[in-house]
Amino acid sequence: MEHLDSGILILDFGSQTTLLIARRIRELGVYTEVWSCFDPRAQEALPPCRGIILSGGPASVGAAEAPTLARGVLEHGAPVLGICYGMQLLVEAFGGRLVQGEVREYGRTPVTCTAAAEGDPLLGGMGSGFVAWMSHGDGAKEAPPGFVATAMSAGGALAAVREASGRPVFGVQFHPEVSHTERGEALLRAFALEVCGAPATWRMESLADELVAGIQAEVGGEGRVICGLSGGVDSTVAAALISRALGERLVCILVDTGLMRAGEVEQVRGLFEASFEAELRVVDASARFLGELAGVVDPEAKRKIIGRLFIEVFEAEAKQLEGVTHLAQGTLYPDVIESTSFRGPSSVIKSHHNVGGLPERLPFKLLEPLRSLFKDEVRALGRALGIPESLVGRHPFPGPGLAIRVLGAVTPEAVAVLREADRIYIEALRELGRYDEIWQAFAVLLPVWTVGVMGDARTYEQVIALRAVTSQDGMTADRSLLPVEELAQIADRITNQVRGVNRVVYDLTSKPPATIEWE
Ligand code: XMP
Repeated sequence: MEHLDSGILILDFGSQTTLLIARRIRELGVYTEVWSCFDPRAQEALPPCRGIILSGGPASVGAAEAPTLARGVLEHGAPVLGICYGMQLLVEAFGGRLVQGEVREYGRTPVTCTAAAEGDPLLGGMGSGFVAWMSHGDGAKEAPPGFVATAMSAGGALAAVREASGRPVFGVQFHPEVSHTERGEALLRAFALEVCGAPATWRMESLADELVAGIQAEVGGEGRVICGLSGGVDSTVAAALISRALGERLVCILVDTGLMRAGEVEQVRGLFEASFEAELRVVDASARFLGELAGVVDPEAKRKIIGRLFIEVFEAEAKQLEGVTHLAQGTLYPDVIESTSFRGPSSVIKSHHNVGGLPERLPFKLLEPLRSLFKDEVRALGRALGIPESLVGRHPFPGPGLAIRVLGAVTPEAVAVLREADRIYIEALRELGRYDEIWQAFAVLLPVWTVGVMGDARTYEQVIALRAVTSQDGMTADRSLLPVEELAQIADRITNQVRGVNRVVYDLTSKPPATIEWE
């Protein structure tokens, strides 16, 4: 297993993009760990490592309760890169001048390289300037003694600084980890590989080993885990990891909510029997889910009901098993990003997204081995664990299932109509060779009746909306501009084959301003 002494330590000051930094470092093949700046270990002498990155954060340097720079960072001999808030901490620590609230820059911002950027290890190849992604209200106007500015933003703020004497301390006000920063990846590469000299020997297989060890430590020698399987990539990869870590102390539960896609239950059962050793229990709770959802229109109410029912079903199953201590879920980083990156694991449940509103009080501890990963990392991990491509490459599917794609009231008939339309849509995308270029595609049943004509008779039926988006992680998404002839073919197939649908429309919105799901 890799260790920090050959990797990069990231101190998290609360930025929403901290784990994106980690991901970029891992993409370079370099081992990395993210520690909260409040972690007691971060207050002490830091362990040996090749480099330290200080993340951004929402606070204002010097404000009450704002996190400060631990002495361990300055006393450590390894190169340091401060990003956004991290740069401001460095500027302050070395005696530079910060201004608060004056240099507000958000989004894509042009920055100009100074003469000092020539030959700079990080900005040397950037030319005279580049577009960087900024998100800050405070900034630095004067470099600390002994530092030089290597880039400036149009508003006169320091965009990048470097210790002039050659000691490897760098600060960037912008976010190189965000894809909108031009050559941001090259900057991080130069820092990690060249300045820090970290070996690029880390592989996905190592992550699997680390996660397995983490699961064993968290669950202990006696604990027993139940894992909800949804048929999606995340829960399957989570189950594969836990099964590696705990063997028969894992029991997987597939709740048939009646809200699954066409053929899903059979597919999961087939895959499971072929490649897992743990026990699988399939619980048919469809009558209960559909019964409790009857007449419920509000999306949040639907999510809450579904979340509660999932837990009730798990609880009932757990009662039949001895000693269940943990409930595992395939929660990913984007699911928890809003509130948890900074404060640590204790506040996870509040913002929980995975099954849409878990109750506050759970009879189990949550086990979420994938919570620091992005979707494509989970896919890579799944491949490293030997999960078949047909499953690893599947589009994401939300925990609440088709209930949030039947807009308005959910009835068994409406679910059946949607399931059939969705099956046709996805099958067609596969035939057209489009499936793999799309992040997520699905059909939505609108609670709208429109007039049509079929075989000389008037129809008054519902509308199917088709959605297809491209995305890197689901946090932002672009509409897929599928060829209109292909969409027309798909629309024909749906109206010809699905009873109850006489009109098909295509959703042209990106996220933001829309979300990927309609509810
Ligand atoms: P939105 O609709 O928020 O979705 O843009 C982003 C991604 O998350 C999925 N999603 C969910 N996944 N439980 C899940 O497990 C949920 O409650 C949930 N809601 C949305 C969505 O399918 C997309 O991939």
